[in-house]
Amino acid sequence: MNEFPKGFLWGGAMAACQAEGAYLQDGSGMAVSDVSFFDNKLDRQDLSKHRDITTQHIQTAMTDAEIRRYPKRHGIDFYHRYAEDIALCAEMGFKVFRFSIKWSRVFPTGEESEPNQEALAFYDRIITEIEKYGMTPLVTVSHFEMPLALVNRYNGWADRRVIEMFCRYANSLFTHFGQRVPYWISFNEINGGRFATFKSTGVVEDKSENYLQDCYQAVHHQFVAAAKITKRLHEVNPDAQMGCMIARFTTYAATSKPDDVLQMLHDDQYDNFFYTDVMVRGKYPGYMNRFFRDHHVKIEWQEEDKALLQQYTADYLSFSYYVSNVSSASPDKLAATDSNLKKTLKNPYLESSAWGWQIDPKGLRYTLNNLYDRYQIPLFIVENGLGAEDTVDGAGRIVDTYRIDYLKKHLEQIKEALTDGVDLIGYTAWSSLDVVSSGTSEMSKRYGFIYVDLDDEGRGSLKRIRKESFYWYQQVIASNGENLTYQEPMLKS
Ligand code: BG6
Repeated sequence: MNEFPKGFLWGGAMAACQAEGAYLQDGSGMAVSDVSFFDNKLDRQDLSKHRDITTQHIQTAMTDAEIRRYPKRHGIDFYHRYAEDIALCAEMGFKVFRFSIKWSRVFPTGEESEPNQEALAFYDRIITEIEKYGMTPLVTVSHFEMPLALVNRYNGWADRRVIEMFCRYANSLFTHFGQRVPYWISFNEINGGRFATFKSTGVVEDKSENYLQDCYQAVHHQFVAAAKITKRLHEVNPDAQMGCMIARFTTYAATSKPDDVLQMLHDDQYDNFFYTDVMVRGKYPGYMNRFFRDHHVKIEWQEEDKALLQQYTADYLSFSYYVSNVSSASPDKLAATDSNLKKTLKNPYLESSAWGWQIDPKGLRYTLNNLYDRYQIPLFIVENGLGAEDTVDGAGRIVDTYRIDYLKKHLEQIKEALTDGVDLIGYTAWSSLDVVSSGTSEMSKRYGFIYVDLDDEGRGSLKRIRKESFYWYQQVIASNGENLTYQEPMLKS
């Protein structure tokens, strides 16, 4: 069989904080993303320092009006160029357009009682544009851009009061767009709370007395908030669906030694399944009791939490998939490499991107089977792609055959998984257009089908150029995934 189902949702993804720019414009407040900096001495194989943000750093960034030092402040100017960008995605044949709404644009400090009308008007224009081409909007409510004011005042999601503010924000989105948006995601990569804590939950390590406790307490608050907004969405529109999302860290045992296999099981449980077990099955899994006991973490629950988690589970399970990881009981003896949101061990059987991310298309087939076996609810791949440095050749073309190769191999494995019986409803590649990198704030780590003329220092014309992969993906979508072949060149010059 090996085919994609009729009505399969093909598309691409982006996030407000990496694309919009328009820093502090039209009443927007500062977000956690607005303090993330670009470092031209970046070590691509060790990005850990980009994940640790200190109070001192936040204070410096808050008094620094400079835009270019903090590339997410300028993004790719999607705020002003959205019409052209959405038209290009429509030209590629997108059925679904995944984007996120910037919380701090709608509620600048998170604590206002009413939303910023200019922000809602902006997102209204975006959705109208998406609808104009018959595409379906897929909206992430929170994608690494909580209001910075909530970090400064509450240490982010560590404080339970943030749940209420988030629900007010989500409710304003559902009131305005609930009838027009059929697919939502509550939190982008909710397991980021453990690995990219600041951008995911706003918890700053030096503000915490017990950091690990705060990390998990923050995630617990996000679980409760996700349940509450799922309830609200269904009240507003019973047909709309709320997905949960994780960064899927598929992992293999380094050897067949039982200790390594057990380590693999634990990494899978703690890094992946904990989040989806809570959000899909509706309760905390037993293995976490042991983990919490061993690590002196005591989650504070309120009376309503248990019932909320149980009753308002996710309608579908979405995930990002870029890499696979390796688990070992003696990791110190093995070589490490960077990976999505965290470091991992090297897998000698896989090739890596220039950033050390290990490329594993078959791991995606494994992942799809593994998640579907466990949960038996529809799956949605909402991010998958290759970060690479693209160059514009003398003829003005970007011949990104390496990206086509990456995507093609992953789509082939998706086909296999569909034949295995997995229920997959859509695929939004990361990213539709080049955007500022989430992890490093670089512009040169590009993922898009559409090139954006901008460099790491924020210089460039911002011109959009269709890459070779643009034409290839157009053919893939037009044939509903039947035709994955690539014959160079697709773009006739
Ligand atoms: C995911 C995020 O972690 O990976 C995206 O949801 C991000 O926002 C993507 O851009 C790729 O990561 P990076 O760090 O290469 O941009």
